[in-house]
Amino acid sequence: MRRIAVLASGRGSNLQVLVDAIADGRLDGELVGVFSDRARAGALQRARDAGIPACSLRPRDFESRRAFDEALFSLVDGVQPDLIVCAGYMRLLDSNVVEARPGRMINIHPSLLPAFKGLHTHQQALDAGVPVHGASVHVVTAELDGGPVIAQARVPVQAGDDADRLAARVLEREHPLLLATVDALLRGRITLSGPRPCVDGGPMHAPLQLGADNTLHVPTA
Ligand code: GRF
Repeated sequence: MRRIAVLASGRGSNLQVLVDAIADGRLDGELVGVFSDRARAGALQRARDAGIPACSLRPRDFESRRAFDEALFSLVDGVQPDLIVCAGYMRLLDSNVVEARPGRMINIHPSLLPAFKGLHTHQQALDAGVPVHGASVHVVTAELDGGPVIAQARVPVQAGDDADRLAARVLEREHPLLLATVDALLRGRITLSGPRPCVDGGPMHAPLQLGADNTLHVPTA
């Protein structure tokens, strides 16, 4: 597994982490394409600056979600990715499109799933009063933010946090979380071919945890 495609709608800081890690030899992969639903996504510019093919399609040019997703994914399939990373891709995906690519798509989501799916996760966490928030990388399935969770980074909520402050600290941990997870997938330490993710050759019983050393640990029961 080596060829990575990225889907992104926004500024692309998670994409940049993969770009930088490949450039300086920390990640043994190749970014083969970046795809977006927004022509002005910062992620597209970051890709072009790094010499990665990048393109966008406009949802409003298509008559349905499925038609848009089929067109976008025919472009994605064209670069023959082994792994498709949704990194701040803000559109719901058509279930047929997802189910046609089992075990090849992951998403980074800014909460400790299954808590706080959907949007405004940092405000959701503050409203719920949880002591610990964080980020998750999960397998993309037809259910929004509902696929098996592969790995998580925990971020304590601090007194005086507002959604922006908390989001900034979570983003700082999203970056090493995504990098470590993609690295483990490319190396085959994590595999996604069965109904649940496997790690080190056996089924994963709980999400891996990002340690202070920025590597993934199997949680102790
Ligand atoms: C991240 O918080 C990601 O988890 C969320 O959208 C944000 C994208 O950030 N779904 P960036 O575009 O990678 O900077």
